[in-house]
Amino acid sequence: MVRSGTLVEIHPEPMLGTHASVSPLAIGRQTLRLPLFQGGMGVRISARRLAGAVARSGGLGIVATAALGFRSGGKGRIEAAGEKETRAEVEEAVALAKGGVVGVNCMVALREFDRVVPAACDAGARVIVSGAGLPFSLPALVAGHPEVALVPIVSSLRAAELIARRWERRHGRLPDAIVVEDPDTAGGHLGDRAENIGVGGRDHYGTVRAIKEMFLRDWQVRVPVIAAGGVWGREEFLHALEQGADGVQMATRFVVTEECDADRRFKEAYLTARPEDIGLIRSPVGMPGRALRANVERIAAADRDRKFTCPASCLEECSYRDAGEGFCLVEALSRAQAGDVETGLVFCGTNAWRAERIGTVREVFEEIFGVEAAAAAAF
Ligand SMILES: Cc1cc2nc3c(=O)[nH]c(=O)nc-3n(C[C@H](O)[C@H](O)[C@H](O)COP(=O)(O)O)c2cc1C
Repeated sequence: MVRSGTLVEIHPEPMLGTHASVSPLAIGRQTLRLPLFQGGMGVRISARRLAGAVARSGGLGIVATAALGFRSGGKGRIEAAGEKETRAEVEEAVALAKGGVVGVNCMVALREFDRVVPAACDAGARVIVSGAGLPFSLPALVAGHPEVALVPIVSSLRAAELIARRWERRHGRLPDAIVVEDPDTAGGHLGDRAENIGVGGRDHYGTVRAIKEMFLRDWQVRVPVIAAGGVWGREEFLHALEQGADGVQMATRFVVTEECDADRRFKEAYLTARPEDIGLIRSPVGMPGRALRANVERIAAADRDRKFTCPASCLEECSYRDAGEGFCLVEALSRAQAGDVETGLVFCGTNAWRAERIGTVREVFEEIFGVEAAAAAAF
């Protein structure tokens, strides 16, 4: 018996630009008017403005909580956990959303995880999307917030199974949705080993379908599965739904919007990027990451020149703090966010080179869903 869940019904029409009929998407107790998640982008690439604008447009707007308490160039030790800053950022995003659904993206790899999740819930976040590790403790952290939907990010069926079994056994609940992120196309930290990325043979949508089947088979529950990675416009959106996804998560495309919280120079770095500029780097977290890689040597050199040392001990594992290897991740991301793309780290998905202009969030929704559907879904 199917206990709960919703299916997105879409009737793709042969021509791009025509209207598709899209049903709302229920994620736990939350309902999105349109099945579109904006991917969380730390540090402060997706903050109040972007999350608020996407939520107001009827999708899920996501504030990335990663290191919100960190300020580039600060002196001495810095408290990166940022509960106060998380609260403020989420409250502002909720106000801008005018009734739309705002969530947060919290990285398990960050030490702040246990403190930031409850702070975000208190501030009005209605969905917690968590990646960069397996979020085993997440249900306990939101115990006082039954309205908050929990959405782990995975890149494999195995990871989804591990999380579901552990949550069911320890906490008596299952994820409210799953984001399946494709390491071959997504930006930022990637959920596979570098040698397995971009070499062919991955069946991303096969993983999407296998996870849906697993929940139906083992728990008789329809859990929405959201495809992330490589979705730029309407064509990829429709393809994702045809392939079995219940919605999509998009990040790279939202960087080149007016509302994105990064400095204009960060956005312009996408406008001038060529396909060959985008590649994998080894992050101090120990995971591969996709970024504009031309300046990776300059990033480490900038930290060396300034005799920079770990200011916050923000990561569970960090080769820079523990062995002096590479560079300070949050400092490098923060520098780029503030516009120093010469010595900062510019994360991006494989689609970044497709950016031609800086548009608006509304335009992205209109392109994907059609002008009328976008207007009807907006708050
Ligand atoms: C600039 C940038 C920063 C990102 N930061 C995070 C992050 O802090 N946490 C996270 O879970 N994913 C992060 N991601 C991954 C996105 O949320 C998203 O799942 C992925 O990039 C989707 O693929 P797309 O960029 O091709 O749309 C980041 C992606 C980009 C482009």
